Amino acid sequence: MIKKFLDLGRQPITNAYLTENDLSDEFLFHLSVGFDEETKLVSLMEFVKPQMMFNDTYAHRASMSATMRESFTEIALSIKQQFKPAKVLEIGSNDGVFIKNFNKDEIVALEPCGNLAEMTKQMGYETYPYFWNTEIAKKIIKNHGKMDIVYSANTLCHIEDLKGVFEALNIVLNDSGVLIFEDPSLYDLLRNTSYDQFYDEHAHLFSVIALKDILSKSNFEIFKVENLATHGGSNRIYAKKTSTHSIKIDKSVEQNIQKELDFEMDKMTAYDNFAQRVKTSKDDLISLLTGLKRQGKKIISYGATYKSTTIFNYCRIGTDLIDYITDTTPNKQGKLSPGSHIPIISPEEGFNDSVDYAFLGAWNFYKEIMNKETEFINRGGKFITHVPHVKVL
Ligand code: TMP
Repeated sequence: MIKKFLDLGRQPITNAYLTENDLSDEFLFHLSVGFDEETKLVSLMEFVKPQMMFNDTYAHRASMSATMRESFTEIALSIKQQFKPAKVLEIGSNDGVFIKNFNKDEIVALEPCGNLAEMTKQMGYETYPYFWNTEIAKKIIKNHGKMDIVYSANTLCHIEDLKGVFEALNIVLNDSGVLIFEDPSLYDLLRNTSYDQFYDEHAHLFSVIALKDILSKSNFEIFKVENLATHGGSNRIYAKKTSTHSIKIDKSVEQNIQKELDFEMDKMTAYDNFAQRVKTSKDDLISLLTGLKRQGKKIISYGATYKSTTIFNYCRIGTDLIDYITDTTPNKQGKLSPGSHIPIISPEEGFNDSVDYAFLGAWNFYKEIMNKETEFINRGGKFITHVPHVKVL
């Protein structure tokens, strides 16, 4: 039985950055989250149609952050060294930040967002502009043969039909092939009270406990888990086909499962306790921002992120508290943030001496930002975060 544990209210499409003309017909949906007591999977209670989120105006560019560029280069090199694959498929190739580490005849990309698929096509990479399913898996093996490696970052958790996902992976992967995928870690999310990981695109938030079960039903076995710092804590899962080849199971699999069991992630209480912490986080953030505003401070938000969309809409924070958002992504600049309608401008225009406090919308890039913004910090500017609890840094 699926039990709801968190209600984040009416929320917009996180990727739908708006112009003034779009305000009247903005799409909103009810964002609440449930725990399946049987499968242990945490998922949204209401899913948004994929075509509404992943389309030709998709805004997120994975290569915009140095942290992500480094992470993708590192894993690409590691895959080449460890597995020496002749053929690689990436599912959800975004702007090509991972595939550009491979020769053009070594890798095939799949990306449903037309504007992004066009970018990697222009770079000379074979790119299929489709959603992942068994039909496209069959088409890919017809054109390219079976794959030695399938890699996917921050994509599989976006797909409602997980059974279909792994069925299609079974089709496309060599019997001796390896599946590597990484998505935000539910364990880190719960521990950090980073409820902003819940938004339209994140249909599921994975625990290793739930993944083990889902994969085993689809003829896959997890043989290694790496804990990553990216996206505020992610797990990189390595899986092989159960029936066919023997790779030693690394102790990281059992260690991660035990860590999650110790945190009682197989029981409803962990989620009910989390929901209580989320309420406190909301109250604390509103109270901090309101207090600073009363003192006449100027507060902005740093990074127009999907995560901050959840926060601003759940906490009902608008231009009364946050003057504007700065973001380095050109196609977000000049737009309004989804739901909360806060203007987004470039850091060159908005991150200046007039700013007293900057809320870290992009808190998961904390280190990168701290290294970059020494001038702001040295002149007394302060960052605010809500992770793991609300505080001025
Ligand atoms: P993400 O968390 O969805 O990856 O989005 C991060 C956003 O933050 C992206 O739009 C780029 C923006 N950003 C900045 O504006 N400045 C920065 O220094 C970093 C690291 C990210």
